Amino acid sequence: MITADTIDKIMDAARIDEVIGEFVPLKKRGVNLIGLCPFHNEKTPSFNVSAAKGIYKCFGCGKGGNAVSFLMDHEHFSYPEALRYLAKKYSIELVEEKPSEEQQQLLDEKESLFNLSAFAQKYFEEQLHQSEEGKAIALSYLKERGFTLEMIKKFGLGYCPGKWDQFSQTALKNAYKKEYLLKSSLSKTKDQLLYDTFRGRVMFPIHNLSGRVLGFGGRLMSDEKNRPKYINSAESEIYHKSKVLYGLYFAKSAMVSQDNCYLVEGYTDVISLHQAGISNVIATSGTSLTGDQIKLIRRYTTNLTLLFDGDPAGIKAAFRGIDMILEEGLNVRIVLFPDGEDPDSYARKNRPVEVQRFVETQAADFISFKTELLLAETANDPIRKASLIKDIAQSISLIPEAITRTLYIQKCSNLMQVDEKLMVDEISKLRRQRFLKRKQAESSGHQPDEGPVIADRKPPVSSELTEQNDSQEKELIRLLLHYGERELRFEVENEDKQMEEVEVSVVDFVASDLREDQLQFDNQACQAIFELFDAARQEDKTPAIKQFTEHPSPEIRTLAVDLLSTRYSLSKNWETRHRIYVVDEEENLRAAVMHALYAFKLKKLEEMIRETQEAIRRLASEVHIDEEDMQRKMEMYRDLTFKRQQFAAALNRVVTK
Ligand code: UTP
Ligand code: MN
Repeated sequence: MITADTIDKIMDAARIDEVIGEFVPLKKRGVNLIGLCPFHNEKTPSFNVSAAKGIYKCFGCGKGGNAVSFLMDHEHFSYPEALRYLAKKYSIELVEEKPSEEQQQLLDEKESLFNLSAFAQKYFEEQLHQSEEGKAIALSYLKERGFTLEMIKKFGLGYCPGKWDQFSQTALKNAYKKEYLLKSSLSKTKDQLLYDTFRGRVMFPIHNLSGRVLGFGGRLMSDEKNRPKYINSAESEIYHKSKVLYGLYFAKSAMVSQDNCYLVEGYTDVISLHQAGISNVIATSGTSLTGDQIKLIRRYTTNLTLLFDGDPAGIKAAFRGIDMILEEGLNVRIVLFPDGEDPDSYARKNRPVEVQRFVETQAADFISFKTELLLAETANDPIRKASLIKDIAQSISLIPEAITRTLYIQKCSNLMQVDEKLMVDEISKLRRQRFLKRKQAESSGHQPDEGPVIADRKPPVSSELTEQNDSQEKELIRLLLHYGERELRFEVENEDKQMEEVEVSVVDFVASDLREDQLQFDNQACQAIFELFDAARQEDKTPAIKQFTEHPSPEIRTLAVDLLSTRYSLSKNWETRHRIYVVDEEENLRAAVMHALYAFKLKKLEEMIRETQEAIRRLASEVHIDEEDMQRKMEMYRDLTFKRQQFAAALNRVVTK
């Protein structure tokens, strides 16, 4: 636990221009420094650093923060990691507070498990390379499989000898406690006697994000029928299967630089692909993909390609993963290997360039993947075809982004030759059902199990904020009142690089987006008007203007009349702020709507980010920092800033188009 006092010292010493300057070339411009933003692609610099204020801000993608958040975003450090980095850079003595007895016990336990795992890894590696048994049984096997010595060393592979308790005894002799041997599941007991869980296995160490060993996978070398081919370490204080991805430590920088990541089934696939020159690859190892793992991936990239064996089990595994991935807002593509081949065996039979070409050219988006596979099965059976369409509609309905959804609907209706309108209806029905279910769950006290959603916002305290929020909210309502039923046209590029047109009504576009994030207007009258629109929309109607201008509530009446009569007043502000001159609002309706929507969402996000920062600051200043709570808050902070970046980028696209 780093003391609050030390944190203060670090923050005082850290000079943001020096910290960022190590990663981004900066030039002086006026009182600030400017450079090319490291968080998005750009040719002209819009990344500003203010040494005086200790902050950075990119006017292109919206990312911003202080020295610590820069390190967390850019280097993917955790909060304590960022602080330690800065302390080292500025030679500040790290004073770590004495944690409570309970905390200390947990820390000791974790540290002991880490130490034992590190010892075990070294021991197994030595056995592999130096012992006669290891060389003869395991090293020769790995080499025969085609793994190079370079890969074997890079991934720290090892061998646990076949003798009953050789490892356990060595560990005990080296003063590692029995308690931790058992807790790490490296050893087990039978009739009070300790024995090696992984005896006779090739060992694959599993690393955490900073490269420390958390656990192992072990592959049996003998062909004893009653022992499983692969086993993994059991859950422990340091190894939580559902939150770990095999290979992430070696893949993370390539995931960022290539903005894509390949997900495979096992250890051998990861290593073989690395050897074939593909290093943005990770595996779940033995379990199916979890939400936590997807969130982990999302820190580095939003593009995920599943590489699966083309056999029925592989296809099933791919299907299971898709919906969850879509729901987290990631783009998912799928590559199926020829029946019976997995990435590992394919990489062994083909040259690296062929492997690279294969995964690049075979990647199909999930619609094509599902349709092609299932269409063959359903042939001309209309009932089975209908259920296939329902299945795909279900997947599409999970995608958070309205425009992406619309794109997929088009694609699916083309491929399956179904009416687009039918699909749109089916999907809005599904989304409505899910939304209502979620609302119900909330009101009956259950928290839906997902990351931070922008929900249930209390109105902000400061009057300045309220005013600002009001204007964004009113702008959205104004657009609904004026143009609610108008169709917005989106030109989008399809798979074949051709432009396609998609139409969505203003109300649908706005409402589906706000509903998705469970956003509420702070202004009650705005909320009421929005709800009337949304209710009508769900019955495929547009409310008459009279419904608002003659509404029993005076607030709603006044607001509606105001907004209906001030056509441009609010967007004037927008024009001057963004130096865009709207000649004819109707012509720019799409931009106006998207702008209003994103600006509104951005504002809401900013509020949440501020609150989270405040909470973090409060936590950090406490005498005993609750590390877990801190991690949770930081995670939330990252999620929020990730969303902010997305919205800001979207906003930027609207403004510059
Ligand atoms: P394989 O069964 O292909 O393993 O599973 P292998 O070591 O390549 O065996 P052979 O040589 O083809 O017979 C591929 C991956 O799936 C994971 C492992 O990570 C393995 O690398 N796996 C497999 C498990 O986690 N558990 C298992 O029981 C089997
Ligand atoms: Mn295999």
